[in-house]
Amino acid sequence: MKRKLDQRISESASQQISNLQSLIATIKSDLGDQLVILGHHYQRDDVIQFADFRGDSLKLARDAAKCVDAKYIVFCGVHFMAETADILSQPDQAVLLPDLKAGCPLAEMANRSDVEEAWAQLGKVMDVEGEVLPITYVNSSAALKAFCGQHGGSVCTSSNAASVLAWAFERRRRVLFFPDQHLGRNTAKKMGIPLEEMALWNPSLPLGGNDVEALKRARVFLWRGFCNVHQRFKPEHVTAWRERDPEIRVIVHPECEMAVVDLADEAGSTATIIKRVEESPPGTRWAIGTEANLVNRLKHEHLEQVIDHLSSEPSYCRTMNLITLEKLARVMEGLAEGEITNQVTVPDDVARDARVALERMLEAS
Ligand code: 13P
Ligand code: SF4
Repeated sequence: MKRKLDQRISESASQQISNLQSLIATIKSDLGDQLVILGHHYQRDDVIQFADFRGDSLKLARDAAKCVDAKYIVFCGVHFMAETADILSQPDQAVLLPDLKAGCPLAEMANRSDVEEAWAQLGKVMDVEGEVLPITYVNSSAALKAFCGQHGGSVCTSSNAASVLAWAFERRRRVLFFPDQHLGRNTAKKMGIPLEEMALWNPSLPLGGNDVEALKRARVFLWRGFCNVHQRFKPEHVTAWRERDPEIRVIVHPECEMAVVDLADEAGSTATIIKRVEESPPGTRWAIGTEANLVNRLKHEHLEQVIDHLSSEPSYCRTMNLITLEKLARVMEGLAEGEITNQVTVPDDVARDARVALERMLEAS
């Protein structure tokens, strides 16, 4: 039966939402085990309700590798997550992203040619292959994961960055960490590496904007990337909360800048933030520094606690929010009609090397 999505879209807003929901639910039930929907914690409530598995980046990578029987994996998240799912899934599985424009601006702050150039420039100052290990945050293109795979390196997420860095330092003296400077700095600092042994790498400047001495001193080269959603949280937000409520517990994502992480009570991945809230006693008061959809959901799901955004203005991820109920319905309708739309495919040669780096991560964490 051909479902008439376009016709449904012209109906009244609430009728439209309920039609889209029933359309998705029907197709989901018709496709049964052939379909798995994965949803990141930053997705909107109306979308994530359909996810078979929810998670942070690490869990979703593991889930994608595990659901070997599904023919289709619909990824409600951003592009690098769908690429990771494609790399870790079986060759005959198709990964679909409801909006192919849902990229991650942080992931786009490093590209393969700039990283190769950085590697070559570092190579003029030190023995890169013997001394430096490249580690990419999972928020990066498959091409960068492949670069890490080819040079002995690995991938990390916000929940395993410390164990992956420890793994890296067992192998080489220094790490080139891209693209998120904040996760790299916060993690290395927590491991006891002093700030003087970290060098910020600006890809548009010779030697990344460093002198030779600073590079020789550095144990971590931090790519100059950042997440605009998390960089909006400032130390003043933490201090304002503490003045208002001395008992407040502040928890933030490690993509926040160091000054914010240092002032917070705790920092952790989206899964860690959820876990900490879930295991806290009723009456706990929280100010949470991460994407607003997740904070709002925690607020509604934990009425026994008092949960608020760290900043007065909630911080939404524009690209995560590109995945809407309507776009999910469109890819699902395609599947019901035997059509694969919005497929994310990583070329075989890139996937092969990227898989090496991802598997090293999965083993190290
Ligand atoms: P998590 O791995 O903590 O879910 O983070 C993903 C992300 O994009 C955070 O901005
Ligand atoms: Fe990328 Fe930041 Fe959005 Fe996460 S919150 S997907 S890092 S832009």
